[in-house]
Amino acid sequence: MSPTRLFCLSALAAALASPAMAQTGGKLKVGLMLPATGTFAALGTAIENGFRQYVNEQGGKLGGREVEFVKVDDESDPSKATDNVNKLVKRDNVDVLVGTVHSGVAMAMAKVAKDTGTLLVVPNAGADAVTGPMCAVNIFRSSFSNWQPGYAMGEVVAKRGHKKVVTITWKYAAGDESVRGFKEAFEKAGGSVVKELSLPFPNVEFQALLTEIAATRPDAVYTFFAGGGAVKFVKDYAAAGLKKSIPLYGAGFLTDGTLEAQGADADGLYTTLHYADSLGNAKDNAFRLAYAKAYKLQPDVYAVQGYDAAQMLGIGLAAVKGDTSKKAEIAAAIEKARIDSPRGPFTISKAHNPVQDMYLRQVVGKENKLVSVASKQLADPGRGCRM
Ligand code: PHB
Repeated sequence: MSPTRLFCLSALAAALASPAMAQTGGKLKVGLMLPATGTFAALGTAIENGFRQYVNEQGGKLGGREVEFVKVDDESDPSKATDNVNKLVKRDNVDVLVGTVHSGVAMAMAKVAKDTGTLLVVPNAGADAVTGPMCAVNIFRSSFSNWQPGYAMGEVVAKRGHKKVVTITWKYAAGDESVRGFKEAFEKAGGSVVKELSLPFPNVEFQALLTEIAATRPDAVYTFFAGGGAVKFVKDYAAAGLKKSIPLYGAGFLTDGTLEAQGADADGLYTTLHYADSLGNAKDNAFRLAYAKAYKLQPDVYAVQGYDAAQMLGIGLAAVKGDTSKKAEIAAAIEKARIDSPRGPFTISKAHNPVQDMYLRQVVGKENKLVSVASKQLADPGRGCRM
């Protein structure tokens, strides 16, 4: 037999045998694409911890299949994202993709997931496009859209009587979209965003921008920063003397998973997010206790999102007995579920983004204390999603 013919036959045999095997039987290969280095490294760890916690509660299985992890450090670097996700899909043949933190990296993951039909659950990145124009039957998010916390805070800041606001963030999808959500609600309520300041991700040279805020003298500042960048921003804002003169508001990432490092400089800050410390519901109490015991750490919003990503996958895969090829049935099961999250129960929109309460929180000591529900069961508009 000619070498070409032999190659074709073996390729055909592989094509016939492996996908069916991979999709129904044997271990469930979960490709975890998260940051293990850089400003979002701690966020990646919390997501993985949360995900593993749920899988462990299920005896190490999802949809009846034993879970096996393959990991890639995406470094929150969009320029490496397509190569990284292709490694998981094409080289490692994962059944499911889980990732990531950074919106730019997540958009590259969503593109590959859409093109290859691989199941994807996004456990953080809020890129509006993932559950907007890029939405697909096999793409889900267990976290939030960037629009959601921003929009909720726009209403809060207007209600608190502020009229003139300056925004400051990293110049990339998450920052831009968070500010856009804020501005939409704030300006609808009669406020005005007088200046939009930004710096490239993941820079933390805030000084010149803080000087500009001081000179502009707005009623308040709205910001999106997260991880290591959020720690430095909160400290620099206080050190510049701004904290006592111009109230600082943020999407809740500003003070989530960061309070140990921010210390007293974060005290009193108001933020909006789909989680808060000590919500007091039974699911959250059990989750927090188990998390602290397993990891010797307090959980944060990222841990919750990782836990819920595994939960959503578990619900979808249970409905098809672990057969990852049955995308429509998996989607139908997740769409009709009421997910019992530590954040409180939530459902998934048609575009596959959580419909959830947005909490107003205030930092008291080392906690993001619940103040009120800022926006009840807030749904992202899912603009541009055709499914
Ligand atoms: C994002 O890039 O979408 C992002 C990153 C970190 C967060 C939230 C959103 O904490």
